[in-house]
Amino acid sequence: MSRTRYVIGNWKMNGTRVGAQALARAVAAAVAASGRASPRVVLCPPATLLAMVAAETGEGRVALGGQDCHARPSGAFTGDVSAEMLAEAGCRYVIVGHSERRTLHSEDDATVRAKAEAAHRAGLVAVVCVGESLAEREAGRTSEVLARQVDLSVPGGSGAGDTLVAYEPVWAIGTGRVATPAQVAEAHAGIRARLGARIAGGAGISLLYGGSVKPDNAAELQALADVDGALVGGASLDAAQFLAIVAASPG
Ligand code: PGA
Repeated sequence: MSRTRYVIGNWKMNGTRVGAQALARAVAAAVAASGRASPRVVLCPPATLLAMVAAETGEGRVALGGQDCHARPSGAFTGDVSAEMLAEAGCRYVIVGHSERRTLHSEDDATVRAKAEAAHRAGLVAVVCVGESLAEREAGRTSEVLARQVDLSVPGGSGAGDTLVAYEPVWAIGTGRVATPAQVAEAHAGIRARLGARIAGGAGISLLYGGSVKPDNAAELQALADVDGALVGGASLDAAQFLAIVAASPG
């Protein structure tokens, strides 16, 4: 069975009501009008905008995702949001282990794995992010770092129905410095082999590339053999750019 293709927009800590509503409305309308069933399009707005985006996307082809979740379902965790809460808000996906969480919030692989398990517990699809830093790449440690992150961050029982893995080299995120097709191809092949060796059905998990995906590189990146879609940050804040990336998916 062929793997499912995705284009996921990660708005990060951006968006206030008026602009975000227009953005969500434009994306939902264009995706509906395209008549294409693939790729699956997911928007991950800040938690404050989930209800509004859910109202805009309705039961249509654009799905909703959270940007992070806590590992526990509820409790004294000020400022956190649980996977169950995201599911109740209409989410079907949640990003876990984004490098901004790993670095700025000191999340390690065990924490990311616990969050992915929480997503599964709540019936959400976990979008588990992995990626090497510039220092790790320059030290020739990329494949070792990716293998460790895949082994320790992706729960053992994961499958294509409840998990996606996003390869996001830290040095390419928000920098305009996109990884080359050869670098992406090598990393994705390594991740796919690792998933396949460790998890029954792991090779069928969709792999997304993220890091400065823009309309002008989206077609080339998404055409690579082991790339099943894109996780888009900055360009997802502009409807025309995001929709161009969706249109560039081979479908
Ligand atoms: P970027 O972000 O597209 O702005 O580089 C990607 C991400 O962080 O998911």
